[in-house]
Amino acid sequence: MVGKSEWESMNGHKGKVLWFTGLSGSGKSTLATATEKELFQRGIRCVVLDGDQLRSGINRDLGFTDEDRRENLRRAAEIASLFLSVGFIVLVPMISPSSEARSAIRQRFEPETYMEIYIKCSIEECERRDPKGLYRKARSGLIKQFTGIDSLYEPPLEAELTVDTDSEPIKQCVQALVDLILRD
Ligand code: ADX
Repeated sequence: MVGKSEWESMNGHKGKVLWFTGLSGSGKSTLATATEKELFQRGIRCVVLDGDQLRSGINRDLGFTDEDRRENLRRAAEIASLFLSVGFIVLVPMISPSSEARSAIRQRFEPETYMEIYIKCSIEECERRDPKGLYRKARSGLIKQFTGIDSLYEPPLEAELTVDTDSEPIKQCVQALVDLILRD
């Protein structure tokens, strides 16, 4: 079997997992795909594992109870681990609301390969953006257990990077992410 370090030397960079946590509408997927584009242009092998995408396929049997969210994240972490083993930069934008579930994910990886990225944005601003109309539905009771409305979001306390999409332009956030990835 070809080892991770052999893949890394072929790829010309180390593999890493960047786990993006934040409210729906905070900009996780936007930043992950914009970062992917920047990395691609630099010849870096990367992949985005997006919560919505996984939920339409491998995780389509799961809902939004605490237990289902934990399983949703566990599966995503297992997929991330496979990509990591071939030296990819893995960008995982998923709400990941529970600090306990996030620390279980962190434990799954070697410390130097894992970074938690907090996509910080106030609930007011996320609700104002409401890109998928889901806050409106949650407020009217059409969607239950919606994160930030009737389901808890616990902000991370030990994220390796926090970007504030309330106040920082996307370009600046992407630059901070690329700098972090290219740092070593
Ligand atoms: S997580 O909590 O399990 O990490 P994940 O990131 O996979 O969530 O999925 C969140 C996406 O599912 C949101 O961006 C939104 O499009 C959709 N969604 C549908 N129902 C809910 C809900 N009750 N809470 C949060 N997101 C929801």
